[in-house]
Amino acid sequence: MAESMRGLHRTCRCTEVSNANIGETVTVMGWVQKRRNLGSLIFVDLRDRSGLLQIVFDEPKVGSEGFEKAGTLRSEFVVAVTGTVMKRQAAVNENLKTGDIEVIASDIRVLAESETPPFPIEENSQTKEDLRLRYRYLDLRRPDIQRNLMMKSKVSMLIRRFMEEEGFLEIETPILTKSTPEGARDYLVPSRVHPGTFYALPQSPQLFKQLLMCSGYDRYFQIARCFRDEDLRADRQPEFTQADMELSFVDVDDVIEVNERLLQYVFREAIGVEVTLPIQRMTWREAMDRYGTDKPDTRFGMELADVSGIVAGCGFGVFTGALENGGSVRGINAKGQGAMPRKKIDKLVEFAKGYGAKGLAYLAVNEDGSFKSSFAKFMDEGTLQDLVGAMQGEPGDLLLFAADKNKIVWDVLGALRLELAKELGMLDKSQYNFLWVTEFPLLEWSDEEGRFMAMHHPFTMPMEEDWDKIDSDPGAVRAKAYDIVLNGTELGGGSVRIHQNDVQEKMLKVLGFTQERAYEQFGFLLNAFCYGVPPHAGLAYGLDRIVMLMMQCDSIRDVIAFPKVKDASCLMTDAPNVVDEKQLEELAIEIQSPSPEDGQGEDR
Ligand code: AMO
Ligand code: AMP
Repeated sequence: MAESMRGLHRTCRCTEVSNANIGETVTVMGWVQKRRNLGSLIFVDLRDRSGLLQIVFDEPKVGSEGFEKAGTLRSEFVVAVTGTVMKRQAAVNENLKTGDIEVIASDIRVLAESETPPFPIEENSQTKEDLRLRYRYLDLRRPDIQRNLMMKSKVSMLIRRFMEEEGFLEIETPILTKSTPEGARDYLVPSRVHPGTFYALPQSPQLFKQLLMCSGYDRYFQIARCFRDEDLRADRQPEFTQADMELSFVDVDDVIEVNERLLQYVFREAIGVEVTLPIQRMTWREAMDRYGTDKPDTRFGMELADVSGIVAGCGFGVFTGALENGGSVRGINAKGQGAMPRKKIDKLVEFAKGYGAKGLAYLAVNEDGSFKSSFAKFMDEGTLQDLVGAMQGEPGDLLLFAADKNKIVWDVLGALRLELAKELGMLDKSQYNFLWVTEFPLLEWSDEEGRFMAMHHPFTMPMEEDWDKIDSDPGAVRAKAYDIVLNGTELGGGSVRIHQNDVQEKMLKVLGFTQERAYEQFGFLLNAFCYGVPPHAGLAYGLDRIVMLMMQCDSIRDVIAFPKVKDASCLMTDAPNVVDEKQLEELAIEIQSPSPEDGQGEDR
């Protein structure tokens, strides 16, 4: 039977003992990683969140009862061991922090027994993620995941410390709230007291933090949980955490300045990476032109080149057709890949099609200066030479071109550039390239909605010099918005906010809101702004993403204790699930479609 803690106190964690403690008595507690019987000696690797420690059971030292108990230990039993720290008798284990010592047990208690776990509790697990997530409480015992969560705790603490030093106040904002438009779908919570009405879970604290500025708190921050019902990806979860902030009496440069120091402090203290300041800045337009994306990975080159001017009058219909339709022709130079076999090039073409391309034109510069190409036959020698020159093509290079509307060309080449870099091993994991992307377009045309949408959110301030174009050419108006990008991932984003009611009303009108609907949805904000609102701006980081990049994880799930899988379900708790009929009745909710576990649902 499992024993209790009665009278026993842990003196330290497993790896808090070292050869400085030799001869001392310690009491350690943790899980059995491994037991080896060597006749008269039993060795146990004891694990806690700090790491492993070798315990030696020798019958004369631990007594016959203790020795017998040690003999029954199996993986994941929870034990308390008291013993003496000694220099290791056998060879030192270089891989362990405690590799040069061991504890000779004088007493043992078995605090809990364990069934055989469904998969080994070990670093770099080969077990399928689905199984691990079903038993997440066991998966969370693995050292790599434990390190990630400890890092997340540390990063939160560092952010809090920095913000406090800088005079920010941590203020909570509601979870049961009204829809905040950040572009994703809301999660809704039905109200029992007001049947037929719903709260929305916040996609971010956006409107509340702006109201806090209106209320004079002047520097706010919050480690805030956010909820977004959107398609999941490797760096997206339906609930995630933002390190969120808002500042009064500031403009773009002030927000950037304090955030650069925050990033420098956090990366230095957390992982010893020195962020050089100032961080490079690039306008959105430059990012798109050079990298085809608004979150460029600047660890490598292979930049896009616009060759529209060169191919304008060429005989290749694919190129000239795209230009006639208002598009562009751009290319990238895969240096030294000229000998890429046809099959591999075909794969790149398929990859490009996955991003909306109709095709991908290529030109390989052979070592003798001749070309191997899908389109060279349509062009005269002079145009070809100009094209190669514009791409800085040299013998042995592979030039890849996309011709289409700008958006497709950017998407295709941006993705292709990254794919090639991955394939060719061009991504240096030890490098941390930060980049501010600024001057985003204020609006983005949505074919689906048939109207302009806010690119960031509807409260983003337009750039003063562009505001006169809001009626004549809304797509050309730039915003005082900025994103912070690290190695091709968007870590955070923010903007200066509109603090003039007339500008805000105009903005909502451009976005297709009637005055009535605007007040229905954001009346509290528009009204608040009638009572003296300071100019304000802010930014929010994806905290999970910061830790994911710091720990070089492939998935955001590895830095969230209890994450959801692709279909937004939790494999461990089975959430979301059906609820009692009674609960639904109380909420005045009737389910129309059959629930998955209810075979008779159709008849209702
Ligand atoms: P934005 O929508 O850009 O801005 O979000 C800020 C940051 O939050 C992270 N993030 C996510 N992380 C994990 N899973 C998700 N589904 C997810 N969605 C976003 C990203 C992103 O950069 N209120 C504004 C901020 C502001 O203007 O101050 C906002 O939420 O790292
Ligand atoms: P086609 O005329 O369709 O046989 O295409 C000739 C070459 O141009 C092939 O290599 C296609 O992959 C390529 N191609 C077709 N459409 C495009 C496009 N929109 N952009 C770039 N290359 C294209």
